[in-house]
Amino acid sequence: MAEDRNMAVVTCSAPVNIAVIKYWGKRDEEAILPINSSLSVTLHQDQLKTTTTVAVSRDFKEDRIWLNGTEDNITHPRLQTCLREIRRLARKRRNSGDENCNTFPTVSYKVHICSANNFPTAAGLASSAAGYACLVYALAKLYGLEGELSEIARQGSGSACRSMYGGFVQWVMGEKTDGSDSIAQQIKPESHWPELRVLILVVSAERKPVGSTTGMQTSVKTSPLLKHRAEKIVPERMKEMTEAIQCRDFESFAQITMKESNQFHATCLDTFPPIFYLNDISRRIINLVHKYNSHHGETRVAYTFDAGPNAVIYTLHHHVEEFVEVVKHFFPPEENGGQFLKGLPVKSVSLSEQL
Ligand code: ADP
Ligand code: DP6
Ligand code: CO
Repeated sequence: MAEDRNMAVVTCSAPVNIAVIKYWGKRDEEAILPINSSLSVTLHQDQLKTTTTVAVSRDFKEDRIWLNGTEDNITHPRLQTCLREIRRLARKRRNSGDENCNTFPTVSYKVHICSANNFPTAAGLASSAAGYACLVYALAKLYGLEGELSEIARQGSGSACRSMYGGFVQWVMGEKTDGSDSIAQQIKPESHWPELRVLILVVSAERKPVGSTTGMQTSVKTSPLLKHRAEKIVPERMKEMTEAIQCRDFESFAQITMKESNQFHATCLDTFPPIFYLNDISRRIINLVHKYNSHHGETRVAYTFDAGPNAVIYTLHHHVEEFVEVVKHFFPPEENGGQFLKGLPVKSVSLSEQL
């Protein structure tokens, strides 16, 4: 932390996480409490990440935020909640009489936030997860706060609570109305499964037509499949997925991951009016994965799609090279004169350490 008595600055990075058991639907919009638990893998920070600088100064007249180089609206309710909750914690800590506790920076100073994603924002690659995790983490560092912060990140964007930890992370839906038990927990660290790899196939960098927040609101109101899934399917899958991760059973991990992705997109189709996040290229990737797996007579790769057309592929390190070649063969950069498909940038991403 750069520090004089008038100003303090902290810069942090946070990785995205990609869910293998999907969160889609809230039981409480305000507190961001989900209708089911979810589970994800946090990627490596050197790949898809948010970098956020927070600065407080005696001279700042108001709180402000810049997102990807453009000033954004600081009055956004979720931003306000995160700022308020962090400041509340900081005040509590300052008032606790703990001698080890820094009294600087002063909590009443205004904050300037500057955040940028090194990947497409609002395109279904979990920018809200990395974005809010990074913001909460950076603010916590600024005020010297430690401990359970996923509850605050969750109030920025639900999926953000899972990016507060590395490796394999579950977001327990919780039961309490105040949300204090709706938190993220690491199931296993990244080192548990070193052979696991993630490939990101960027199909489109455009903003999605329907944001996750609005999309899931409509699904909760209109989709009977979503209700059935949350109550009857996800609890069992959470157990199976946890077991698959614990045993490093790629076959089960991959199959549940693909079924989850498909059922999530089925609930989007069951939403009224329906939401289409996948496009023709996404569907071609799905077919390719199934053909590739059946050609080898085993499940070597799994796809998952969040609320957008971009594919995330889970595989094991010894299959990466071959599968990347297969992708390049079927999606050559020059296809369609480079107009329809400007080549799929393929990134090999290994998993992250804790923030
Ligand atoms: P995604 O699939 O990328 O998570 P969402 O619809 O869930 O898309 O969320 C996109 C929104 O998340 C953005 O419009 C913005 O409000 C917020 N967001 C994205 N990146 C950041 C960031 N770095 N800092 C703060 N908020 C962010
Ligand atoms: C499809 O966390 O972005 O990526 O809580 O309203 O901010 P809000 O939604 P968000 O939803 C993520 C949905 C998902 C699945 C997942 O990450 O579990
Ligand atoms: Co999001």
